[in-house]
Amino acid sequence: MKTCLSTSIDMIEYLSEARRAVDACLERLLPIDSETPSTIHRAMRHSIFAGGKRIRPILVLASGSSLSGDREVLLQLGAGIEMMHTYSLIHDDLPALDNDDLRRGVPTCHKAFGEAIAILAGDALMTLCYQILSSLPGVPDSVRVAVICEIARATGTVGGMIGGQVVDLESEGKPIDADILEYIHQCKTGALLRASVRCGALAAGARETEMKVLTAFGEKIGLAFQVVDDILDVTSSSEVLGKTAGKDEKVKKATYPALYGLEASRKKAQELLEGALADLEGLGKEADVLRGLARFVVSRTT
Ligand code: IPE
Ligand code: IPE
Ligand code: MG
Ligand code: MG
Ligand code: MG
Repeated sequence: MKTCLSTSIDMIEYLSEARRAVDACLERLLPIDSETPSTIHRAMRHSIFAGGKRIRPILVLASGSSLSGDREVLLQLGAGIEMMHTYSLIHDDLPALDNDDLRRGVPTCHKAFGEAIAILAGDALMTLCYQILSSLPGVPDSVRVAVICEIARATGTVGGMIGGQVVDLESEGKPIDADILEYIHQCKTGALLRASVRCGALAAGARETEMKVLTAFGEKIGLAFQVVDDILDVTSSSEVLGKTAGKDEKVKKATYPALYGLEASRKKAQELLEGALADLEGLGKEADVLRGLARFVVSRTT
């Protein structure tokens, strides 16, 4: 099948170069450790620079670059979104939410800095994200506003990350229904991944037809990302993942493997990948990186 052919791009090389560029941008945009009050800046940097795949900023870069967007703008936009994502991880790990001790291979923010500073570090990364989005260099104000609105919606309560987190927590230990499960995953994780693809395109001045194609693509890989996260929680180890494996089953989370089993969950992720690749069929070589990233989302081991 045409959509299953691999691209000529070396994704390992691409990903490591893109991660380096994203990390350098994050380094420039985050206050230094010694900036007053230093505790919070150390906490923010602890969670940001512990590692992380940087998949959201890389999606921004790939989506925007497929439309010849400005690299510096895309990097800053991606760095802002990575801060938003890292805030969501810090809060997700808090004792009141998932109560996790390990994240990105190091102690969670609240384990290292205490709960109060971890809550504030999450808050601070969110506000810094908006500061960065509102200051994107050389971007028309209308695009700036569109990007800010996109991220606010994707992380908000109606169809966004916080809404998904609420239903995720309220569903623990309860019988799961297919519609609620898809809602949780699309909202808590899918929405920000979809927004990353869309924001890259917005910043590159995408036309409506291009937005439509990329939105459909982003939606599928966004959902696939969380299906794979659920699968890895069952099949991988804490050492490999850098976060506690096997927790979803223990606390009876609403997950794809819990509802459908591992094989059907793998099939679901594969179908979403094929659908996402089909969405890009009308595009040429300029979308090869996006194709590679979609495959990475489904085949990843961490
Ligand atoms: C983990 O996200 C939380 C989810 C939304 C599934 P990632 O798997 O992207 O975590 P990092 O950024 O690589 O640490
Ligand atoms: C996290 O989902 C989603 C967000 C952080 C918004 P999970 O709770 O499954 O993520 P991990 O497995 O802790 O990374
Ligand atoms: Mg969670
Ligand atoms: Mg969690
Ligand atoms: Mg998980």
